[in-house]
Amino acid sequence: MLSSLIDPAGRRISYLRMSVTDRCDMRCVYCMAESMTFLPREDVLDFEELFRLCRVFVKHGVKRLRLTGGEPLVRKDIGVFLEHLGQWLHYPQQEGGLEELTLTTNGSRLALYAETLFKAGVRRVNVSLDTLDDSRFSQITRRGKLATTLEGIRAARAAGLAVRINTVAMAGVNDDEFDDMLAWCGDIGADLCLIETMPMGETGEDRTATYLPLSKVKMELARRWTLESLPDRTGGPARYMRVAETGRRIGFITPMSHNFCDSCNRVRVSCTGRLYTCLGQEDGIDLREIMRSGGDDAALLSGIQTAIALKPRGHNFMLGAKPGEVQGPARHMSVTGG
Ligand code: GTP
Ligand code: 5AD
Ligand code: SF4
Repeated sequence: MLSSLIDPAGRRISYLRMSVTDRCDMRCVYCMAESMTFLPREDVLDFEELFRLCRVFVKHGVKRLRLTGGEPLVRKDIGVFLEHLGQWLHYPQQEGGLEELTLTTNGSRLALYAETLFKAGVRRVNVSLDTLDDSRFSQITRRGKLATTLEGIRAARAAGLAVRINTVAMAGVNDDEFDDMLAWCGDIGADLCLIETMPMGETGEDRTATYLPLSKVKMELARRWTLESLPDRTGGPARYMRVAETGRRIGFITPMSHNFCDSCNRVRVSCTGRLYTCLGQEDGIDLREIMRSGGDDAALLSGIQTAIALKPRGHNFMLGAKPGEVQGPARHMSVTGG
């Protein structure tokens, strides 16, 4: 390997989350404001720039690549882009090779894309789904249609993709549904991952009131389900348990109550080419500026290394004391897709 990306705390960066668009066809209450303004197209990296950035990261030790958005599947020609990235999966252990290519999606266009994803080498997807109730789904996503997302999930399974359902746990909104969702995931052969709401960007919603610590949820679920410990070796934020009754896993992502920053293996790049070294911090560097001012790959690598040398030890998310108060980065979750 040419050189690997390691921060001063010894954390090796082997995972890149690349946002390919800030646009989304939904407006989830915890993610975006109803009246979201999207970026002018020229601000967003073109495919050549995205590919070049991915290549530099992969050449220097990134082995897992997750495309995010906004909603990645609303970007035109995303299938062709995935096919290009997928070539690196053919030599996973070699320099410049990739072990995993995946994406996080709201499922609205998954039925259209499931087979293309599989052909490109994607083997699992994370699909956001916070409820199985039609009217709740409309309230939470503001624009989404439950039936379309469910159709997308079915198509993904049929195409051979493993599916993890991402559910943001919200008190008084969907906390009476976790048993049903766990059972449903068992039926469709998917894992379920519950997520604590993070206060990113102003959404006009009171995320403090709906915050639900997942330790409590886990204890309650354990009364009705047999949850067995699993070794913690995914390298991601989720801590998983096996659900004996379904044979599937349940994951818990607990940035607020029990963070996982010590073992963080990742960085993220926004669709405008800004590298963020922590989801919950503003630190970063403008990689688009380096590319658009004629910088070569060595200059890009040097920018990336400089940013990683300053990677914060952890996030400093805090839930506000007042309703609606945001204590986290001003940027929205959709800027980096989480
Ligand atoms: P894996 O590749 O399976 O590890 O997926 P993931 O859980 O990292 O990805 P996904 O896009 O499904 O994200 C699920 C949730 O985890 C989202 O709410 C993300 O914002 C959050 N998340 C992902 N990475 C980080 C991180 O580094 N820090 C924090 N605080 N949250 C993260
Ligand atoms: N807090 C936690 N998770 C969030 N997501 C979006 N916004 C938030 C937030 N404020 C989740 C989505 C998606 C994943 C990328 O991030 O549900 O599954
Ligand atoms: Fe779109 Fe995902 Fe944000 Fe919902 S959470 S508005 S689906 S980017």
